Amino acid sequence: MLPYLLDWAHLALRWLHLIAGAAWIGASFYFNWLNNNVRPVARGPDGKVALGPEGEIVGDVWSVHGGAFYRALKKGYTIEKLPEPLHWFYWEAYTTWLSGVGLLLVVYWLNASAWMAGPLAAGPAVGVGVGSLVAAWLVYDGLCRTPLVRRPAAFGVVMYALLTAAAWGLFQLLPGRAAYMHVGAMMGTIMAANVFFVIIPSQRKMVDAAARGEAPDLAFGQAGGLRSLHNNYFTLPTLFVMVSNHFPFTYGNGRGWLVLAAVGAVGLCIRHVFNRKGQGKPYGAFVGLSVAGGVAIVIAMAPTPHTGPTVAWAEVAPIVASRCAPCHATTPTQAGFVAPPLGLVLDGEAKARGAAAKIATMVSSSAMPLGNLTGMTPEERALVVAWAQEP
Ligand code: HEC
Repeated sequence: MLPYLLDWAHLALRWLHLIAGAAWIGASFYFNWLNNNVRPVARGPDGKVALGPEGEIVGDVWSVHGGAFYRALKKGYTIEKLPEPLHWFYWEAYTTWLSGVGLLLVVYWLNASAWMAGPLAAGPAVGVGVGSLVAAWLVYDGLCRTPLVRRPAAFGVVMYALLTAAAWGLFQLLPGRAAYMHVGAMMGTIMAANVFFVIIPSQRKMVDAAARGEAPDLAFGQAGGLRSLHNNYFTLPTLFVMVSNHFPFTYGNGRGWLVLAAVGAVGLCIRHVFNRKGQGKPYGAFVGLSVAGGVAIVIAMAPTPHTGPTVAWAEVAPIVASRCAPCHATTPTQAGFVAPPLGLVLDGEAKARGAAAKIATMVSSSAMPLGNLTGMTPEERALVVAWAQEP
């Protein structure tokens, strides 16, 4: 009964995580788009925009959507009177982070012997996982308090190098898939903590000053704006980690951390294209760079053709039966499994051959058998990989 209920908890959390994440990233993309597309409006002879009740504005943007025209006005940091109601955007970020940590807990940390153990035992592996989230925020936030933060490109390069180093480190300590997911969670934690510790508090100060009819300290708005910009660049690499789950050839690659760093760089480049396009700056070079990067990754990761003696299914069948079928069977015998994972049943040559490419990746990278719960030996592993790699 418990595994069954945990499956539902897992599904509900994953659903919530997607819903909240879509709302958060949707709002974040929309506001960045707004900000990039705001154009200065015509000014009168007194240098001010004649707008009547809205007072002075920085710029405006027109759009058409869902059968209506919309005009958004961008105000500066001072407003004459606090509008009512004033909409805030924060539950999306907090719900995404909380459901994400819930998922880490249900999928990885509570099942640590299956999903976290590998180079490290289950307990220390969970310690590394939790520690990585805390460390990510402390290091990033610390870096934001140095003069480096005023040089966006240099800051970006340092952050990228630090996260790549973290990915490499986690890859040495955790199974590939857990390492990936924790790098994603590190970036997600930085983004949510930016909202919680910096963006919302600085907005709160801005709003409080406006309510008192005072001009707020510009530094508040600027700090929030900078952290929002950082979040904007984290989104695409983070989303890549989330979908990579379904693509074992990424995290299961022997150099999965490098794959993550390379695809992450392409994600940053694509985000940059959108930002430059919105600001009306030339962006063609970055489109070219994104495409070239993508093609280079695809070529560099192409599998090498199998060489060596052929291995017969008869040699592999008993290994699959004892090491894989406890989970990958119509009725699994492994405790905690109520159905074959991802519907993959490995009970005969035809089905195994159909999944051979994935088997080769999963078994060679030690992602399978999960947590090596069925105790596969290195010799058995080599044999299964050799069989699976044959065309
Ligand atoms: C302890 C249980 C367990 C054992 C033993 C196990 N697996 Fe799996 N396997 C899983 C789970 C759980 C998943 C689903 C992972 C996920 O959700 O992405 C999976 C997924 C897979 C996938 C699909 C990957 C994908 O994304 O489509 C392959 C291929 C696979 N296993 C092969 C094997 C092989 C080959 C063996 C034996 C050498 C094996 N597994 C042993 C639990 C197990």
